[in-house]
Amino acid sequence: MRSSKPTGPNVIKPITVTKPAVSRSGRPSRPWELVSSSQRQTDRLGQALGRTLRGGETIALYGPLGAGKTSLVRGLAEGLGAAPTAVTSPTFVVIHEYQGRLPLAHMDWYRIRSLRELESTGVTEYFSGQTVTAIEWAEKGLALLPQDRIEITLSHRTTRSRTIQLQGTGPTSGEVLARTRRAYRASSPRASNKKGITKS
Ligand SMILES: Nc1ncnc2c1ncn2[C@@H]1O[C@H](COP(=O)(O)OP(=O)(O)OP(=O)(O)O)[C@@H](O)[C@H]1O
Ligand SMILES: [Mg+2]
Repeated sequence: MRSSKPTGPNVIKPITVTKPAVSRSGRPSRPWELVSSSQRQTDRLGQALGRTLRGGETIALYGPLGAGKTSLVRGLAEGLGAAPTAVTSPTFVVIHEYQGRLPLAHMDWYRIRSLRELESTGVTEYFSGQTVTAIEWAEKGLALLPQDRIEITLSHRTTRSRTIQLQGTGPTSGEVLARTRRAYRASSPRASNKKGITKS
């Protein structure tokens, strides 16, 4: 949540771009909707996503203040093998970078006022190469996002539960989400209980 954050822009220089931005067309995947009844469960979803990413994916995060976007990115960082405790909402610095199995660029576009301002920060240079890009308040720069991306919308249900809808807007993201879904199911406490059952 955004309360005691430092002020002033402090945009980290983007990494070197090795490939032009990939923009694929293709049909969006069927939306996958789930209810997370705790922060831990949102974490687990982020971890499953982090473990299944292959590099270069863009994850657009939508949802109101406190919906759990940063919490999900914390799990994602953990799934990528980066230090999750380091993940905070980069509201004022626009971009935080983390290094795990793949590089992760975590952006927050909440305070962005125009597309021109956003472009001037060089964010689109991240949409290529191996960097995984997770963007909070992605709706502020919809026109700049790669066509094939993972879209995640979080909304409040109760104090502790959230509805989370995930969708791939193209073939690559659709495939990643299919794998994420399997990994998420396999990581559920119920799935591990089942594995523990042996026939006598
Ligand atoms: N099921 C849940 N999933 C995720 N977070 C939850 C859940 N239940 C409660 N929370 C709480 O909601 C808050 C979510 O905060 P978080 O910073 O992740 O939101 P955000 O969407 O990034 O907000 P902002 O737009 O301000 O950056 C945390 O305090 C977290 O503990
Ligand atoms: Mg946040």
